[in-house]
Amino acid sequence: MIRRLDGGAEGRPERAWIEVGTADELRATGRLVARVGGREVGVVWDEARGTAHGLRNRCPHSGAPLCLGRVRNRESGLPGSYALAGERVLRCPWHGWEFDLESGRCLDDPALRAAVYPVEIAGGLVRLQV
Ligand code: FES
Repeated sequence: MIRRLDGGAEGRPERAWIEVGTADELRATGRLVARVGGREVGVVWDEARGTAHGLRNRCPHSGAPLCLGRVRNRESGLPGSYALAGERVLRCPWHGWEFDLESGRCLDDPALRAAVYPVEIAGGLVRLQV
């Protein structure tokens, strides 16, 4: 579900905190997505670490809805011999490229980076600073 949180870019202060849903929804679905001022943003939930991460819901590779990807451990190695690298990543749902949850850096193409946003969870609500 995508929430529409405003009627457009006009009148919205820069870097405002916006509510994108509840903590219960985030934990249950793994993600929250909202449209703010003409762009989609989202929060993904890392169940293994109990952390929330805000990103733009657009993959910088080819425009996939990045927040619909899976949060998982980064794998490294060669075909037939994979190992967990320990890094938690968001895997794009279209081509599987992986993005660092903290920085948005693409681990498969260092020239690409997904926009990231601060997230806070308080009083059962999830807020994103965009
Ligand atoms: S669109 Fe995300 S990796 Fe291609």
